[in-house]
Amino acid sequence: MSDWKVIGIGNDHAAVEMKKEIQAYLEDKGFRVVNYGTDSTESCDYPLIGKAVGKAVASGEVDAGVLICGTGIGISISANKVKGVRAAVCSEPVTARLTKEHNNANIIAFGARIVGLEMAKAIVDAWLEAEYIGSGRHERRVAMIHEIEME
Ligand code: RB5
Repeated sequence: MSDWKVIGIGNDHAAVEMKKEIQAYLEDKGFRVVNYGTDSTESCDYPLIGKAVGKAVASGEVDAGVLICGTGIGISISANKVKGVRAAVCSEPVTARLTKEHNNANIIAFGARIVGLEMAKAIVDAWLEAEYIGSGRHERRVAMIHEIEME
């Protein structure tokens, strides 16, 4: 379990209801949640939201992030353009756990059109409860990802 206290959440128009449910779920767990997403179902551009949450995570404004769009893909690709972000799209809890343990994922993403609410909660829980294995090959490989960013 991480010592995260503040989670940034972001979503586009495809994920308004799921964002609200996940925000409430995180707040019930005691997190402070900062909403960078839209609360409207009017079409909007997910890159702006992925970037906003990515920058909030990278700057330390929030400890970690949750991103939701239709698939989870566009919004996570956008966040991953911000240096220091390791956003992972997951559709089930095993990869959510492993991306924290191995990749130290600081943003979890999923698709509101792909997973149901209970699966989304299970993904969030697996990611929150896992610990980064910050030694050996995992530490070396995460450092290598950072080196790519710095090139
Ligand atoms: C919006 O229609 C959709 O393209 C977006 O939510 C997401 O799935 C993109 O990756």
